[in-house]
Amino acid sequence: MTKTVQDYIRTIPDFPHEGIMFRDVTTLFADPRGFRMAIDQLLHPYAGVRFDKVVGLEARGFILGGAVAHQLSAGFVPVRKKGKLPGKTISQKYSLEYGEAEVELHDDAIQPGERVLIVDDLLATGGTAEAGIKLVEQLGGEIIGCAFIVDLPELGGRARLEAMGFDIHVLCQYDGL
Ligand code: PRP
Ligand code: MG
Repeated sequence: MTKTVQDYIRTIPDFPHEGIMFRDVTTLFADPRGFRMAIDQLLHPYAGVRFDKVVGLEARGFILGGAVAHQLSAGFVPVRKKGKLPGKTISQKYSLEYGEAEVELHDDAIQPGERVLIVDDLLATGGTAEAGIKLVEQLGGEIIGCAFIVDLPELGGRARLEAMGFDIHVLCQYDGL
């Protein structure tokens, strides 16, 4: 049987908390066939579509976003956790299960009208992706698509982003949290 992207993802129970099934994409990234399959499938809906920038969300979105940007002949731009980017930044807070987090983008990383693809490994509540989208839009970038390896539909992120009008592409889904 041919393996799917999902077959390369390892599930680790009770990480980082009891009751959480952690979907570990490092096993997908580490496999030569798996990683190529993941990048090819992330790109699949965008054949013939022009992008200026791929925006990767820290941390696993950097690994995917770099490879995707190379394939699209686009630039790569990181959205980083607060305090990591050296230049002038704009920032966006978002909600976590407990408390708040904040991400930043260099204020000159996207030019008005640039066409952007958002990339991350996993879509759960959609809070991280929405924060990244808001930062790109604040600089006048146009979000053409958002691509993820894993979707956890019960956490509602995909529905939330689609309700905002964004085009969401995911490679696999898991039921439960
Ligand atoms: C995980 C995952 C996504 C985000 C999804 O990252 O890699 O970026 O959570 O959750 P959400 O849709 O509910 O926002 P995490 O915050 O654990 O940080 P990391 O990627 O830097 O490890
Ligand atoms: Mg992340």
